[in-house]
Amino acid sequence: MILQETYSLSNGVEIPKIGLGTWFSNGDEAINIVKKSVEAGYRHIDSAQAYQNEKEMGEAIKNSGVARDEIFITTKLAAEIKSYDEAVKSIDESLEKMGLEYIDLMIIHSPKPWQNFLEDERYFEGNLEAWKALEEAYEAGKLKAIGVSNFEIEDLKNIIDNCKIKPMVNQILAHISNTPFEVIEFCKENDIVVEAYSPIGHGALLDEEDLKEMAAKYNVSVAQLAIRYCLQLGLLPLPKTTNEDRMKSNAAVDFEISDEDMETLKNRDKIEDYGEASKFPVFAK
Ligand code: A2P
Repeated sequence: MILQETYSLSNGVEIPKIGLGTWFSNGDEAINIVKKSVEAGYRHIDSAQAYQNEKEMGEAIKNSGVARDEIFITTKLAAEIKSYDEAVKSIDESLEKMGLEYIDLMIIHSPKPWQNFLEDERYFEGNLEAWKALEEAYEAGKLKAIGVSNFEIEDLKNIIDNCKIKPMVNQILAHISNTPFEVIEFCKENDIVVEAYSPIGHGALLDEEDLKEMAAKYNVSVAQLAIRYCLQLGLLPLPKTTNEDRMKSNAAVDFEISDEDMETLKNRDKIEDYGEASKFPVFAK
């Protein structure tokens, strides 16, 4: 069962192959989805400072009935933090909010502050400062692994060429019809695990006729086809859902997409319209 499988990060830490995305969930809903997902067998939850649910995540993990070392929790350093001092402070704030002795993985949410996401400036210096703070927290045992998110090859090179500890993870937008193969290849060459957020295209893939047809052939849903596609590419999907049945079915992906169908999916035309989500910069790119 895929929920029990893990990838090994470059420092030997094991990370469950599927994680639950929690963007847009806060308050009681956040507590509830952690509880439900743990009951469904998930052991990997993806949070962020920007989601404003770290307190709830920590609380729910502590009350989950599962040993702390059996749950993998990720949070993200806010995209706007590009100085060493602010990053140090902010990492400690996450630990305090979660009320946990350590966080399994902390990643820089974006190489650029969100409001500058579509601009050319890459914040190389600022990212090195934030990275140094993550390295130190890692060395102090506060974080079990460190990484980045939304980083392109240039952004990764900046860190790799100047750092003491290489990123272990890059979390990026990756799904059928929008898979950044060059970044993925670069990460593989550098022993960086690639996590795929919005593996079902923030829902936009669900109504596509060709995908419905292919999914029917395997007797699965489009969501399952999309999640399985990520796994077969060696990616770590982070599907989001607040619904218990979908949590379960999104993790029931022990089937095999044929090589031929994988090729079709890899070469599929890009979805241009993410509907409501198009207003977010990561979907607008
Ligand atoms: P809901 O919470 O109502 O299930 P992504 O992870 O690609 O960003 O997609 C998240 C969106 O897809 C959410 O709106 C979620 O809504 C929906 N979703 C997640 N899993 C499924 C599924 N198995 N079937 C249909 N919709 C799903």
